[in-house]
Amino acid sequence: MGCGTGALCAAILDRCSPSSAIGVEPSEGFLKTAKENLGHRATLHQGSATAIPLGDASVDVVVSGLVLNFVPDQPAALKEMARVSAGRGTIAAYVWDYAGKMELMRHFWDAAAALDPLAAKLDEGPRFPLCKPEALEQLFTSAGLKGIEVKPIDIPTLFRNFDDYWQPFLGGQGPAPAYAMSLEEAARARLRDRIRERLPFSANGSVSLIARAWAVRATVAP
Ligand SMILES: C[S@@+](CC[C@H](N)C(=O)[O-])C[C@H]1O[C@@H](n2cnc3c(N)ncnc32)[C@H](O)[C@@H]1O
Repeated sequence: MGCGTGALCAAILDRCSPSSAIGVEPSEGFLKTAKENLGHRATLHQGSATAIPLGDASVDVVVSGLVLNFVPDQPAALKEMARVSAGRGTIAAYVWDYAGKMELMRHFWDAAAALDPLAAKLDEGPRFPLCKPEALEQLFTSAGLKGIEVKPIDIPTLFRNFDDYWQPFLGGQGPAPAYAMSLEEAARARLRDRIRERLPFSANGSVSLIARAWAVRATVAP
């Protein structure tokens, strides 16, 4: 669900050997890239989390990676994911821990908000309240799902030096790079310097951070 360019589909195909895999994605551009990346290994459909183009009880597992926080009507998405899942099927999702230990983003937004109160409005931490374990559990409970488990997935992210950390903010996609590039050069330099002052550098100049996602999984009642 929300397969984007197909990264999660590819990981599932490589590691889990499912009998078949289906990706659903609203964006035509992402779907085209997913087709290029996955070839015939997965069937791809245009659709959304609240309008999945599949029949009732047609799949065993529905999984969405880094998607649910973008869906406007999350309870409706859970209902739809449960509709297409067979009884005792699994529904699983993960989202970044934006407000907590998605550390490369936290360092960015904490520094940005300290220098510019307007930046706080763009910070994904407060913008995506779903991205906390209690909120995920609550969403899955409200959908009537059973056996709910919520766990952190901690991914070590090592940056060789400050530039290695900073460069992606100067050209990447997403709210943080867009904000960085919207600043005048002097303001961007102030932001860069503030982040650099606070990052936990090792003696060799590298920076070791954690990128945490909260993962949730549950079973559809038969
Ligand atoms: C951060 S990307 C994750 C892509 C993919 N799951 C992955 O792991 O590479 C978020 C994806 O969610 C999709 N998306 C946004 N709103 C959606 C919705 N309402 N229903 C389904 N997918 C949605 C976006 O188009 C995008 O492909």
